[in-house]
Amino acid sequence: MIWREGIRMALAPNTPAPATGLTTTAAPFIEEARAHREIYIHQPYELYSDDNQATWGRLIGRMQDRWGRYGNRRYLEGLDKLQLSPARIPHLEDINRFLQPLTGFCARAVTGYVPSYLFLDCLRRREFPTTVTIRDSAHLEYLPEPDIFHDVAGHVPMHTDPAFAEALVRFGACAAAAARRVAATADQHEKLRRLTSNIRAMSRFFWFSVEFGLMRASPGARDGDLKVYGSGLLSSFGEISHAIEAPEVERRPFEIERVVNQPFEIDHYQPLLFIVDSFDHLFALVGELEAWLVAGKLDDVAGGEPEVKEADLASFLAAKHD
Ligand SMILES: [Fe+2]
Repeated sequence: MIWREGIRMALAPNTPAPATGLTTTAAPFIEEARAHREIYIHQPYELYSDDNQATWGRLIGRMQDRWGRYGNRRYLEGLDKLQLSPARIPHLEDINRFLQPLTGFCARAVTGYVPSYLFLDCLRRREFPTTVTIRDSAHLEYLPEPDIFHDVAGHVPMHTDPAFAEALVRFGACAAAAARRVAATADQHEKLRRLTSNIRAMSRFFWFSVEFGLMRASPGARDGDLKVYGSGLLSSFGEISHAIEAPEVERRPFEIERVVNQPFEIDHYQPLLFIVDSFDHLFALVGELEAWLVAGKLDDVAGGEPEVKEADLASFLAAKHD
């Protein structure tokens, strides 16, 4: 990998590791890789500073009670299987040694934002794009972009569960169906209009399930008996309890039509959350999403957040698909 050698040259042999380590938005290693338009990288473990390591320990340590109280059972089992330790930031290689035999999934290091088709296509191949930087120790609650705590402690334990893993793979298949459909649309204006709507719908579905989903504690559980499986909640010290306890949060059964038309904002606690019954239910819902997409029922979803970036559109238009 050409870029990787380039980065190594930039940092070695006589250049000391930057004092900032691998802190989110302040990591020269990541800036350099992004400048070379690289998305997939290795985890430059030696660059983590003592402060980065201490931040990981604090983040893991303060979540233990909350995970036990609010976390979905499958998530808690996943944490056990991965043996995440507060003592040190995990090596992705070690994570993958535990993870791959269970569901075929692996965590793959990236520089940060991945355009949406590439992200979802990774899921189809059972690769999870994983950020390797960690948030600034002075702002544990502030997250300008995902970090390794969100990705590894929030997402990856879920990937040990076969039913959840299949739902993610199916999400990738849904993106592939969108790319095929858009390629078959001749009119350029209509192509972009449909694609923008389809991406918005898939983003909203992903947000209200994989990132912020709630699940009934057990099949047939009482309406109020809920657990968290969304990774945005599982990696948030404040919001995990708010999602379950706060009376002002509206919690509704997951309905595709409502979800794909529901704008969301990322800079405050979510006022509205959606509930699935099980991961088999989630898997079925993703299949339904794909059927809706193929039938053209996601071509005119409500406008509003999230914004669809040029890079997201371009990633779908450039998709290589069967
Ligand atoms: Fe996430």
